[in-house]
Amino acid sequence: MSTSPNRVSYSKIVKVPPRGLVHVADRKKLPCIEHFGQAISHVLISSTCLKQRIRCLAKDIIRDAGRVRAQELQFVIILKGATVFANELARQILANRGPPVKFNYITVSSYGNETSSSGRVRIGGEIPSVKDQALLIVEDIIDTGLTISTLRDYLLNERQAASAKVCTLMDKPSRRLPDLKDKIRTDYVGFEIPDLFVVGYGLDYAELFRELPYIAVMSRDHITM
Ligand code: IMP
Ligand code: MG
Repeated sequence: MSTSPNRVSYSKIVKVPPRGLVHVADRKKLPCIEHFGQAISHVLISSTCLKQRIRCLAKDIIRDAGRVRAQELQFVIILKGATVFANELARQILANRGPPVKFNYITVSSYGNETSSSGRVRIGGEIPSVKDQALLIVEDIIDTGLTISTLRDYLLNERQAASAKVCTLMDKPSRRLPDLKDKIRTDYVGFEIPDLFVVGYGLDYAELFRELPYIAVMSRDHITM
């Protein structure tokens, strides 16, 4: 269990080593890999691991929703990366008899086509009123923490949501901006990963690789920015 006061989920942290949860020595055995040639170094999290872990997160969310007798769950899904994760999460909530899910989408961008934060965050794609509502922000990955902290502040302060929990598929805690180190709230974290640039399962590099069914590490010599 985490010692951070900002983490309130009960699931154990799943830390992913740099070579991944399942090491595949033979590149030819990686599904879909030939399609992307040498751009992919290795698979970090297989689709089976993703599915199993998302089921655990769904159960945690259902348990918490039961405690506050939530009638429905209001997802705020960060475009575009979190859509694949949010879909599977909602399906697992349904499969495990959780409350109905409402989907809201928001654009928060800090990256352009680069692999490190620009330090600026833009919020776009207005969502309907969320005043006094309990929200669950669904994110693909937390890196410096800028995106999630800006969005959470916006929803709570400008849009006057009652609460905004954070559910992220992956977290790279070693990349946190010093100012945000102990300030980022993460209620549900799928996997803690090392400082690697990852793609697949919704995450992109220059808008590519989102359709991969697993999380993969980009080859260093294919990252040009
Ligand atoms: P942060 O604002 O620095 O925390 O960055 C979070 C956003 O950057 C995520 O929503 C992703 O869109 C993007 N991002 C961060 N790390 C990665 C990565 O390893 N692969 C793909 N996108 C990433
Ligand atoms: Mg994103």
